[in-house]
Amino acid sequence: MLQTTLGSLRLQNPILSASGTFGSGWEGRQFSDLGRTGGLVSKTVTVLPRHGNPPPRIQETPAGMLNSIGLENKGADWFLADTLPKMKQLAAGGAGPRIVINIGGESIDEFVQLAERFSAAGVDALEVNLSCPNVQEGRLLFSTEPRLTEQAVRAVKRVATVPVFAKLSPNVTDVTVIAKAAEQGGADGITAINTLIGMAIDWRKRRPILGRGIGGLSGPAIKPVALRMVHDIARTVRIPVIGVGGVRSADDVLEFVCAGARAVQVGTAMFTDPTLMVRIVDDLRERLAAAGTTIDELCGSVHRPVPPAPGACQPDQGRGACV
Ligand code: SIN
Repeated sequence: MLQTTLGSLRLQNPILSASGTFGSGWEGRQFSDLGRTGGLVSKTVTVLPRHGNPPPRIQETPAGMLNSIGLENKGADWFLADTLPKMKQLAAGGAGPRIVINIGGESIDEFVQLAERFSAAGVDALEVNLSCPNVQEGRLLFSTEPRLTEQAVRAVKRVATVPVFAKLSPNVTDVTVIAKAAEQGGADGITAINTLIGMAIDWRKRRPILGRGIGGLSGPAIKPVALRMVHDIARTVRIPVIGVGGVRSADDVLEFVCAGARAVQVGTAMFTDPTLMVRIVDDLRERLAAAGTTIDELCGSVHRPVPPAPGACQPDQGRGACV
């Protein structure tokens, strides 16, 4: 009932961690049985180590948080030698969660290098981070310009031997244009959305609070935006959509599924409750059983016309006729 597919990738359930909110999963293994999740998505890995942005890097907001991490990580060599073997242990030889590596590049060549190395290392899928707002002076190069989105995805697809998901930014006028470009580049799925660019100010100091001035807003505050974007993308592309943005419960997950998501990532809420993903899996099973439905049946249901209830008027017939 909970199984779902993302193209050729089969997941035991639709719940994944969101990149950057749960390390590699290894750090959170003592809190719950991660073997029961659908997938673990790594923090973004870059070719070389990155120190990240100056502190403060996190600021709580009324319904979420701002982050300005700047893709801090120890680089691909370290990740392949140290972290990936741990993630593979969590994957239990393919019986557990899918291992998805989120890759970040400053150039197409860097994305390609990472895609080649991680495909060869036997991961289950790649998530291409085209949308981090905290690097390159916030220019979001690859996810605001459809031509570059398509080029980057096409280049990654040329070398990748596993499914490739493009993670898109909400900081654009029309996200469907970017999603279409990713699909044309050959993406196997779209992850939507990354954070919304925001700012916090300490008026007494007359200064921004975050060290870099701006950051990415995540958490419940962005859920309506994410839902709307998943809805619009799912209507536009034929490849699967992975929803992310402000998920805290099984009900939130089912809202994303109705909007058209085949899988859903849990992110910011994991900072306050690292057991949440597994609890959502259990709640989801209960909700679906109680409603007598499945992820497959619900997926994209808001896009389908509602059949008239017996005896209801059909206003579209213009005669007030009842069935
Ligand atoms: C960061 O490391 O700055 C956050 C990652 C992202 O938003 O893609």
